[in-house]
Amino acid sequence: MEKKWWKTAVIYQIYPKSFQDSNNDGIGDIGGIINRLDYLEELGIDAIWISPIYKSPQVDSGYDISDYQDIDPIFGNMEDMDRLIEECNKRNIRIIMDLVLNHSSDQHRWFQEAKKSKDNPYHDYYIWRDGKEGEVPNEMMAYFGGSAWEWVPELGQYYFHQFTPEQPDLNWHNEKVRQELYQMICWWMDKGIQGFRLDVIDLIAKEPDLCIAENGPKLHEYVRELSRSTFQKKPEIVTVGEAGNTGVESALLFSAQDGSELSMVFQFEHMDMAHKKENQINWVLPFDLLELKEILSKWQVELYGKGWNSLFWDNHDQPRIVSRWDNDPTYREESAKMYAMLLHGMQGTPFIYQGEELGMTNVAFDSITDYRDIAAKNLYDRMLGRGYTKEEAIELIQKDGRDNARTPMQWDKSLHAGFTKGTPWIKENPNYEEINAEDERKDPNSIFHFYRKLIQLRKEYAIFADGKYCLQDKENKESFSYLRSSDTEELYVVCSFVNGCSKVSIPERFLKDGVLLACNYEESLPEQLQPYEGRIYYRKKNAE
Ligand code: NOJ
Repeated sequence: MEKKWWKTAVIYQIYPKSFQDSNNDGIGDIGGIINRLDYLEELGIDAIWISPIYKSPQVDSGYDISDYQDIDPIFGNMEDMDRLIEECNKRNIRIIMDLVLNHSSDQHRWFQEAKKSKDNPYHDYYIWRDGKEGEVPNEMMAYFGGSAWEWVPELGQYYFHQFTPEQPDLNWHNEKVRQELYQMICWWMDKGIQGFRLDVIDLIAKEPDLCIAENGPKLHEYVRELSRSTFQKKPEIVTVGEAGNTGVESALLFSAQDGSELSMVFQFEHMDMAHKKENQINWVLPFDLLELKEILSKWQVELYGKGWNSLFWDNHDQPRIVSRWDNDPTYREESAKMYAMLLHGMQGTPFIYQGEELGMTNVAFDSITDYRDIAAKNLYDRMLGRGYTKEEAIELIQKDGRDNARTPMQWDKSLHAGFTKGTPWIKENPNYEEINAEDERKDPNSIFHFYRKLIQLRKEYAIFADGKYCLQDKENKESFSYLRSSDTEELYVVCSFVNGCSKVSIPERFLKDGVLLACNYEESLPEQLQPYEGRIYYRKKNAE
């Protein structure tokens, strides 16, 4: 297997607004990230992916960029950014920036020019169609609800947007747009940025006239050009494309081992991708263990030796894994560790989302006024418009909403969880007195220390990166087991998904001469799993 640093690495996602506030304005910032680098070093991660910190009107929390080469004042300035790069370098932590290339903000200079006139040189940077007011060019819908077309009366034209109207889609069919974006990326690479997460990369090659939003015919051609013009200039760069609509075939192209496109993609099949369109109300589907096994196993098997997986449960768009599937809260700690083992035992690059390493949970605000996410607010209005009650709408947002992941990081027991001394931009989760980093760092049995251990195991044992995956005990409805094996070593991972005891059969050789590398209980029985128990066994094959 080709040795790339990111194949044994673990990446930590920072949602900067909610990570750490350093100037007490209630919003997390770059200074706050710098102040917490020692914590991240202690955790042992190799790189941080920072959600967008570019200049932005913050309509969609920074995923609406008005200047790709500037820092939004709520986060600091370019000097702070340079300092962050320097401080990360000292600790061997790489920085991965979030690139939103599918759309910009409507406040971006390009769009401001584009809407001045049809012959403005920037007009064609976006996607415009003639029409009559009230008669949209076609039925395409935006991910956050409503038509994907927005009318500009001064021009007598509609422009295309797949998210909010304040996020007009860039026209990737225009060579000039692509070149501008590539130059910008090279500029960040020259500044010392060592990786990029590419927002909704599977949407860039849309063909609105054909009603094609995802996986447009020119998608891979564009991604190859992008990669050649930027990332491939520095072999150390890691790239992960967010591709919510991708299947195995396309993921194999994205993550091809020749490096012609990206390093890996986030696929969402196991999370049943959260972004749904207008007519579907967005539910987290009921949990089905056999289906989860099938999906994760398919990705493990199909990408083996040909592509590369990203591994994740949480991110800033998803409910928290310990709350996602109605897990029994009595076993929060056990299940947090179990989910971690299940994922970190697989092949791929694991991503940890801030607070996941503490077992942070979903939040349940009672009123829409406490929610901040534009997608949640739009959904609420849509549901009320369709006759649902306020309670029904709030119940859905509590279960499924993106703000579940966006409450302030829980650092300690002090006011606002140690996140800010000001008023936080979004309320903290009231459970911060029981769940916080300070306590967990002191407790050797905490979820935090469990994650530390898993991160180290990946570095110590080559089998975590190399081993071939094989699902075991496929029909078992209570536990998920798999084997990883290479010529010389093997791992056996077993995880219970029930809140009672369950029977399990672990291959004799692991019980006899295997080492138990990780387990979320102090003591365990060979043939029985305790609630949400997980174990990772290791064995050298020459011990046979
Ligand atoms: C995916 C991002 O993860 C999400 O937060 C954002 O709203 C959309 N892309 C639009 O950029």
